[in-house]
Amino acid sequence: MQIQSRERFEGEFLLPGDKSITHRAVMLNAAADGEAVITDALMGEDCISTCRCMRALGADIQTDGTTVRVKGAPQFKSGVKLDCGNSGTTMRLLTGLVSGKKIDAVLYGDESLSKRPMNRIAQPLSLLGADVQTTEGHAPVYVAPKTLQGADVQLKIASAQVKSAVILAGLSADGETSVTEPILSRDHTERMLFAMGADIRADGTCVRVKKSNLKALDVRVPADISSAAYFMALGALKGKTLCKNVGVNPTRTGILKAFDRLGVRYTLCNQRVSGGEEIADILVEKSDMRGICLTAQDVPAMIDELPLVAMLCAFADGETTITGAKELRVKESDRIFATAEMINRMGGDCTPLDDGFIIRGKKKLIGGDIDSYLDHRIAMTAAVGLIASEKGGNIKNPECCAISFPDFFDKLGVDR
Ligand code: S3P
Repeated sequence: MQIQSRERFEGEFLLPGDKSITHRAVMLNAAADGEAVITDALMGEDCISTCRCMRALGADIQTDGTTVRVKGAPQFKSGVKLDCGNSGTTMRLLTGLVSGKKIDAVLYGDESLSKRPMNRIAQPLSLLGADVQTTEGHAPVYVAPKTLQGADVQLKIASAQVKSAVILAGLSADGETSVTEPILSRDHTERMLFAMGADIRADGTCVRVKKSNLKALDVRVPADISSAAYFMALGALKGKTLCKNVGVNPTRTGILKAFDRLGVRYTLCNQRVSGGEEIADILVEKSDMRGICLTAQDVPAMIDELPLVAMLCAFADGETTITGAKELRVKESDRIFATAEMINRMGGDCTPLDDGFIIRGKKKLIGGDIDSYLDHRIAMTAAVGLIASEKGGNIKNPECCAISFPDFFDKLGVDR
């Protein structure tokens, strides 16, 4: 797909629903007593995978545009094969959820998901007595019926997917389960479970949960800050953008911290809380940026935005160092490799590190041909970089953006 460079980029944008919240709203309501309506849901391929899996487990799920009606089936069907597609969130959260439900289940996924690490869930779930077998550390993942016992779990990595897997297993375990992570990751699971009546409390980086039944909960999904981020970045690079109704849960707003350090001018307007999640409209204006330093503490709150932050740093003045981001190596692609290659192919100067990047900002990039490696975040970051570049260029396999943002290129005003 050819992307032309542009002099200015301006506009008001209503972005698709939050991917993490949509997954959880569908999955948890499918496991709850009663019926719920989810509005402004993301109907990207990953969330469609979650709907497919929850139907296979017995829930009744009807979709109409961005509205999803879920009739829960707290007792899941056994002997199911769950196709998680490209979605790590579906596979990891669901493994935790089914591990205490006394059923047999196999969870499998596409080529990319089958390369991603799954021992990170099998190991902590085994501490609760779960029978979760991986295929040499990967999918397919096999779950067999077991009675779970609460346990205290210390995680080595900050991962909302792993934390959530343990919490969801803890809902079926006898006694109390606690899970502590080194740095706080996104907390949508905790917030939604609390609203659904679960016995759960969070204290800093530790979450405690006891056996609970869930009550159906209507959810209005805020726009995804990880999707808005591409339009926010274009505002900073090329003009002025306003992104409406964006979820600004503090475990997700690392991009704003990066903006503060880069010197990006932005304003949060119309701040409110809805359905237990903070929401705001975000106005971003063209800004001169300077290089920054990001370390492990900064990473979880901007984990999915790091390729884009790296791209912004390539347009900044001066050197940027990003470390403590080794998790990027095991996302939908190796995002350290893919991001560094993308910036360098566009005429920038990015050295990949084992756990991050050094980027020597040049204030401008020429453009070039970019491989998305079938990774939605790489494809969308490339589009932003190319629009802001001098000559534009091509993106190979751009259609992978449908994982999290099906109409990304339409919203961007690029002809397909
Ligand atoms: C997600 C958590 C993050 C993120 C992913 C969605 C979630 O993964 O990268 O896109 O919904 O819990 P990790 O928690 O494994 O870092």
